[in-house]
Amino acid sequence: MFKESPILENVSVRQMHLKNRVVVAPMTRVSTPGDGVPTEAMEKYYRRYAEGGFGLIITEGVYTDRFFSQAYPNQPGITNEQQEKGWEKIVRSTHEAGGKIILQLMHAGALSQHLSNTRSASSIQPLRHMLMGYSKKQGVYPLPHAMNLSEIDEVENGFCHSAMRAEKAGFDGVEIHAANGYLLDQFLTDYTNDREDHYGGSVENRCRLSTEITASIKRSVSDDFVVGVRVSQGKVNDANYLWPNGISDGKIIFNSLKRAGADYIHFASEGKGFDHGSLTRDGESLPKLARQLTGLPVLANGGLDNLSEAKRILGEGHADLVALGTGALANPDWPIRLQSKNKIHSFNPEMFASGVTIEDQFKWEETAGGIRL
Ligand SMILES: Cc1cc2nc3c(=O)[nH]c(=O)nc-3n(C[C@H](O)[C@H](O)[C@H](O)COP(=O)(O)O)c2cc1C
Repeated sequence: MFKESPILENVSVRQMHLKNRVVVAPMTRVSTPGDGVPTEAMEKYYRRYAEGGFGLIITEGVYTDRFFSQAYPNQPGITNEQQEKGWEKIVRSTHEAGGKIILQLMHAGALSQHLSNTRSASSIQPLRHMLMGYSKKQGVYPLPHAMNLSEIDEVENGFCHSAMRAEKAGFDGVEIHAANGYLLDQFLTDYTNDREDHYGGSVENRCRLSTEITASIKRSVSDDFVVGVRVSQGKVNDANYLWPNGISDGKIIFNSLKRAGADYIHFASEGKGFDHGSLTRDGESLPKLARQLTGLPVLANGGLDNLSEAKRILGEGHADLVALGTGALANPDWPIRLQSKNKIHSFNPEMFASGVTIEDQFKWEETAGGIRL
């Protein structure tokens, strides 16, 4: 029905040449001992995706400063020398195995399950409840304090210095996490931002923090270091949210990111499939709009381990690359399976029944229900 997809064909994102269009989506794994320093198990976990043929790996969300950014206990950071050195080993190992790897920079804002004194765009109670499995903290989120301008500067500095550390550690680039309800999305979203300064009000103002961070990172890293931005409609605490003005919001957001110097746009889903996360209320495709408007490479996400769906997304021109989350957990060698026409496994949520860390996953894989690579 759709023209044959180029899913296993190479593609370039700026000067980063990828052997195919299959990407590991960022996935939080809370697997450090508490100091935020990446571990050997993490090295094995990331390297395995490279050995499994993924063209690009995006790391889990990594915290960017020691003030208010950390989302979960045991989350890795990139805020000091030890953390940077830990990542350096992972990057080296992933490159040796033929992969490319990008670090996702994340600030939790009001959705931190690590801090009690959280910061956000405004002092507005976050919707719903904390996520299970990532922290002992459960229940409603604390009421955040609204950030003042010097705290906003600290956020920008944190992202920028973390990106510079990521470049020193050898990463091929960074992805700015402006999606899924975390800090930058709290600024972007109408109902979590009632600021009256130049970070609130219009959509242009609400995406200012994301664009300032993008531009400031671009000014601070080498020209060939990739800087992507992940955006979404849905949020971890509001999966059905849609941009209120659909295409018109998309035009402002994508054009602003392009002007700020973004090298790619990653349009995320909130776990309910591509159409649910990526279409406007009128059924128009936001990733396709991003692609047409900006000419930048666009990553799509949401149930795209389903091959016919992935082919449709590329074939219909919604995106240039597909990012797999749970599908990559279930098939760390998904591209090789596709190439050799081996069975592709469905994700089994049992994988996380006794915990969401990488060690928990490896233990589960060793059991009868586990993955057979
Ligand atoms: C265990 C887990 C952790 C996740 N952590 C992150 C994260 O750190 N950053 C992020 O942008 N998205 C995160 N996500 C969302 C995924 O990147 C992806 O958008 C989601 O799984 C939907 O894609 P899928 O249908 O291919 O699974 C996470 C998802 C899972 C399953």
